[in-house]
Amino acid sequence: MKKDIAILAGDGIGPEVMMAALEILNAVADKFNHQFTTNEGLIGGAAFQRFQTHLPEETIAICKSADAILFGSVGGPIAEQQNPKWKNCEANSLLGLRKHFQFSVNYRPAKVYPALQDFCPLKNELIKDGCDLLIIRELVGDIYFGEHKFYQEGELRAASDLATYNENQIRIAIQAAFKAAKLRKQKVTSVDKANVLHTSKLWREIMEEEAQLHPEIKWEHQLVDNCAMQIVKNPAQFDVIVCPNLFGDILSDIAAVLPGSLGLTPSASINPEGFGMYEPSGGSAPDIAGLGIANPIAQILSVAMMLNFSFNLTQEAEAIENAVNQTLEAGFRTKDLTLVGQSSLSTTEITKEIISRL
Ligand code: IPM
Ligand code: MN
Repeated sequence: MKKDIAILAGDGIGPEVMMAALEILNAVADKFNHQFTTNEGLIGGAAFQRFQTHLPEETIAICKSADAILFGSVGGPIAEQQNPKWKNCEANSLLGLRKHFQFSVNYRPAKVYPALQDFCPLKNELIKDGCDLLIIRELVGDIYFGEHKFYQEGELRAASDLATYNENQIRIAIQAAFKAAKLRKQKVTSVDKANVLHTSKLWREIMEEEAQLHPEIKWEHQLVDNCAMQIVKNPAQFDVIVCPNLFGDILSDIAAVLPGSLGLTPSASINPEGFGMYEPSGGSAPDIAGLGIANPIAQILSVAMMLNFSFNLTQEAEAIENAVNQTLEAGFRTKDLTLVGQSSLSTTEITKEIISRL
């Protein structure tokens, strides 16, 4: 197979973990006889430095001509957020790409690896039955993309953000959830705030319509506040969780702590034409950038998601996932997964271990 991939490494640890992911991609190409060409684009602070914008037209053009986008991370140190290079960097880069390509469905898996159970912040008894959930977040609607404004209420400064959904936007996410559940544990939890919000009442109606079309799948509604509690109280109850944009943002951060490190979780954002962007859930981690100690696994698993979702290369994706599992089972760890005093592998060392198991 021949595919062209847009590489947006970005800032902080982005370039380091991207290098690891590209080595994995090359190893897969060799082993399975594929030809993957790559085209690098600037994004985030790295783009700002050159073009005075976080998302240059040139980068959008590179993405447009590619078969998929592999994204690293963007953003700068907290202390420098007022510097124009970093101001609104994450939002400008990510929301810009999401809007331009209409990446309407966001997949954020979170699971506890048996080898890493001790890193899960929950008590062992809460995860003894396993913990493997998938958050599907609607990504181009809701309060994120409604009108935002500041205004005056007489003497007072005021602000408003408008949350809107139409039924098509909701249906796309919910259909993706049922499709995913069919390949997993056959359960969908739909999250909303229907006791207060009209967008949530509409969300519930669409959920009920779609559920009727899938009688074999178990499903339920859950209010978002309760869901937040349930994720930490009893994560094993979940299979697929589907939610509106803002709730998905928050719940996916809660769920991302379950594996024990942000360096472990990949994500995918897919548009209705099937075009996708793949990225680690974690950020650019400026504090450890350049040290060569970042965990590349989230970026590597993002490659697996890309092979699976965008290119339908399920065997190849599985090979990567298995190699990562085996590397963790064999006890190899990066710094984020070691206790003080224990030795750890560098980004390139653990990548070598993973490649040797492919
Ligand atoms: C995420 C991020 C973004 C979001 C920010 C950076 C705009 O938090 O991808 O979850 O809120 O969607
Ligand atoms: Mn977020």
